[in-house]
Amino acid sequence: MSNNRDLKKEILNKISKINNNTDLQQLKISELGKKGRISLLMKSLSEMSIEEKKKLGKEYNILRQNILDEFEKRFDEISLLEIDKQISSESSDITLPVRNGTFSEEGKIHPITGTIDQIISLFSDFGFSVETGPDIENDFNNFTALNIPEEHPARQDHDTFYLKNKNEEDRKLLRTHTSPVQIRTMIDTSPPIRIIAPGRTFRCDDDATHSPMFHQVEGLVLDKNINMGHLKGLIKTFCERFFGVDNLPVRFRPSYFPFTEPSAEVDIGYSSEGDNIVIGSGSKWLEVMGCGMVHPKVLINCNLDPDEWQGFAFGLGVERFAMLKYGIADLRNFYEGDIRWLDHYGFSIDDLYSSVLTKYRDK
Ligand code: DAH
Repeated sequence: MSNNRDLKKEILNKISKINNNTDLQQLKISELGKKGRISLLMKSLSEMSIEEKKKLGKEYNILRQNILDEFEKRFDEISLLEIDKQISSESSDITLPVRNGTFSEEGKIHPITGTIDQIISLFSDFGFSVETGPDIENDFNNFTALNIPEEHPARQDHDTFYLKNKNEEDRKLLRTHTSPVQIRTMIDTSPPIRIIAPGRTFRCDDDATHSPMFHQVEGLVLDKNINMGHLKGLIKTFCERFFGVDNLPVRFRPSYFPFTEPSAEVDIGYSSEGDNIVIGSGSKWLEVMGCGMVHPKVLINCNLDPDEWQGFAFGLGVERFAMLKYGIADLRNFYEGDIRWLDHYGFSIDDLYSSVLTKYRDK
């Protein structure tokens, strides 16, 4: 008995001193393997009388189990220590300045990301917050609640990608515009609302001026006594700031969208100089976004009383805004990942965050 106690003590002592799993595994084999001391003890039982076997058998089993448990415990401890060691040896000090040489090569922010960031920044100066919604939508949010019923021609215009659904009724689709985020926001929160919703949108269309995936920014303002004058003032100021042109000519041309009444398309003034366009001068007009007063039926679809709440909405194409501002000619360039193009049209952190985004902060 006391021999066993000494043996146990000796083995546990050895286990506690080992600091790596390879040595620990070696020790485990030498003590508990076929020729190990514990196995020899177990073997010795076969030469004992039944009485002794009963008594010592139990004792040896407990001893073996205790030692096994200690090995497992130490294996776990060592694994944790090794992870800690690895983490501390691989961590880097991110406060260090950028090194000259290879590491000074600067990545660029994609023009779509940079343009969305600018739009968010300008609207946050007007007190807007940012909402998002999922790329995969249901029919209600993308169409029905926006006053585009089943038989409405606008559904066909949208060239929708439908997902395969077992059940026709809750058939899912890739959202064709960011307008469903209006619906989600009106249902989930209560007015007053002042949001923009940037995001990806999808339509089954692909050529030099259309991509099956593109980006929009939606806007929604809902409050009491909101009118078209608020919409016009906001959009004009936004366009002037985005394009960096004071007194930009902005025109609201009557149009039609099922979810707004009245509806308008926004045009900005420009002139052509050779192949280039100059925004803000001349007598030509470029269409840049759709907008209007939220249709009372849309409010009702979101359980809001149109006699109490009014609002306006707008939607713009991010790629179009970027193309106009930065003179990008072909839509497909945005998605090709050509490093030379990205290097030319992408934003450096300095360009974007220390100048463009903060330009109007103090006004
Ligand atoms: N959802 C429209 C589209 O994709 C854009 C749009 C127009 C959004 C007018 C609006 C709006 O919120 O009021 O073509």
